[in-house]
Amino acid sequence: MCGIFGVVAREERPLGGLLLGAARRLAYRGYDSIGCATLDAAGAIDLRKDPGKIDEVDARHHFEEMRGVRGIAQLRWATFGAPSHVNAQPHLDTDGDLVGAHNGNIVNHIALRDAFLAEGMTVRGTNDGESCVHAVERYVHRGQDMIESIRSAAGDLEGDYAYVIARRDERRLYAVKQGSGLVVGLGDGENYVSSDLPSILPLTQRIVRVRDGEMVVLDADTVELRRLDDGEIVEREPELFTLGMDAAEKSGYPHFMLKEIHEQAKAGGDLLHLLGASPHVDPFLDALRAGRRVYFVGCGTSYHACLIGAALFNRLAGLPAVPVLAPQFRETLAHALTPDDAVVLVSQSGETKDVLNALNASRPSGATILGVLNVLGSTLMHASDHYLPLACGYEISVPATKTFVNQVLLFHVLAERMSGRATTDWSRVPGLIEETLGCLEGPSRALAELLDGHEEMYYLGYGLTLGIALEGALKLKEISYAHCEGLLSSEFKHGPLSAVREDYPVVFVVAPEDASMLVNHVNEVACRGGRTIVVGAPDALLRRTADLCLEIPEATHEISALLAVLPLQLVSYAMSIRRGNDPDFPRNLSKTLTVD
Ligand code: M6R
Repeated sequence: MCGIFGVVAREERPLGGLLLGAARRLAYRGYDSIGCATLDAAGAIDLRKDPGKIDEVDARHHFEEMRGVRGIAQLRWATFGAPSHVNAQPHLDTDGDLVGAHNGNIVNHIALRDAFLAEGMTVRGTNDGESCVHAVERYVHRGQDMIESIRSAAGDLEGDYAYVIARRDERRLYAVKQGSGLVVGLGDGENYVSSDLPSILPLTQRIVRVRDGEMVVLDADTVELRRLDDGEIVEREPELFTLGMDAAEKSGYPHFMLKEIHEQAKAGGDLLHLLGASPHVDPFLDALRAGRRVYFVGCGTSYHACLIGAALFNRLAGLPAVPVLAPQFRETLAHALTPDDAVVLVSQSGETKDVLNALNASRPSGATILGVLNVLGSTLMHASDHYLPLACGYEISVPATKTFVNQVLLFHVLAERMSGRATTDWSRVPGLIEETLGCLEGPSRALAELLDGHEEMYYLGYGLTLGIALEGALKLKEISYAHCEGLLSSEFKHGPLSAVREDYPVVFVVAPEDASMLVNHVNEVACRGGRTIVVGAPDALLRRTADLCLEIPEATHEISALLAVLPLQLVSYAMSIRRGNDPDFPRNLSKTLTVD
């Protein structure tokens, strides 16, 4: 959901390459437009920006040529204002004294825009990020210095956002965090500020995390944190991040998505190892046990993991957890929460606005907040009473893959621990993931070829595989742009079956214990001429009934269900490539959705 980056250097130097590199690492957050601004030692601003992906815009604007002592880059995921030159960021104030860029949403920007125009300011676009610049301009015009102006502007700007801003005749950058991510990197003779760590870590590993309600004043040698409300300076020690950036490179794979799919065996092994030793697991489990009512809450892929988690807890531990989509949680359940309830919020990024809304709606009740997240240091991590990390490393590709597998594994481990019966041989799991990917890569490509001829289809699952079918369907929609509906297999006959005609594709995701019942569902489609495809453990009857079977290695019912997502990820990837799409950065989407 947009990415911002800023740098302040001691000496004037080429900054275009550095800004472009940071922008590439931020590209997963938004790719509707890119813009860079540099300010030279005399304060002259060079601003280049346009709609389009980085390479297209770079070919027109040659960012590499840009020099200066300060620089700002922004990647936009459009919410307010169509992707266009004027709406691309960074933005200038009326007379080109200020330049700034934001991430997040300024929800009152339409009213602000009217007010700015009435006050005689020049507002060039309809993007809410421009409001940040004019809100500061308003107080600069009234004679306040930059720190005071930024603090005053905070009272005018409503929403969840972060922004970075520079004034021509100063050697500083200023940044604000109010609901969206912001981190500072301490370099050698230069300092950086950004929406996230991957854009900064190749430059420095000394990081200061900014908290909501704080502003940062950066020059080349010092970084000062201040509270927005009273202007007081905040002391915070930098942290040293030793996680290498190799993890954020493609390592020879054509796309991050394929790399991340193939990292799943290792990521799964790392998580199982961590959960085996972590002192955080028991308090998390105790809170679940103590919960009078337990809710699993997430969005998109993370919600699908919640569905499977609830089925696992029901099946293995007899715990009736309720899976809920995060925006619905606030609307339908949060007001009935009590201090005895437990709310498990599941989010790869830990920054998804819908999830944080559910968190904020839960807080007043006193219910225990449990977080499951991948991004350490995220808002969800700090706001949770207890949290467990997914231990996946960076997931750059917009389609979630390894974080989904680890979310399900985490639920599975917890449910089995709660049951008191150790039935799964966890040491086999990484090998099974690798084996499944190895033996189904070719068949998945073949299935992608078959499905590629269709613009609509169904993925059906049952019990544990409902969440897998929904996840497979989401992945296919997300990166192939074909319509694929995920549904409970037993529900198909209650209406959607009417879609079936000659050759109409229906994919069934089948876990071993459900095979005998699912054969009926497959038959219902087959006898109407539909093209039936089964993804699941080998089963003689299914093999005879379906047109095509993608058979996954023998495993327990629970693990087999999880393994079925792997070929579905590969099918989506292959179909996206066949259609000439970029699976890492699908159109209209962003990795981290920090808006309502
Ligand atoms: O960071 P989160 O897990 O909270 O993100 C939730 C969804 O936006 C996310 O899972 C989305 O559905 C994925 N891009 C799907 O691949």
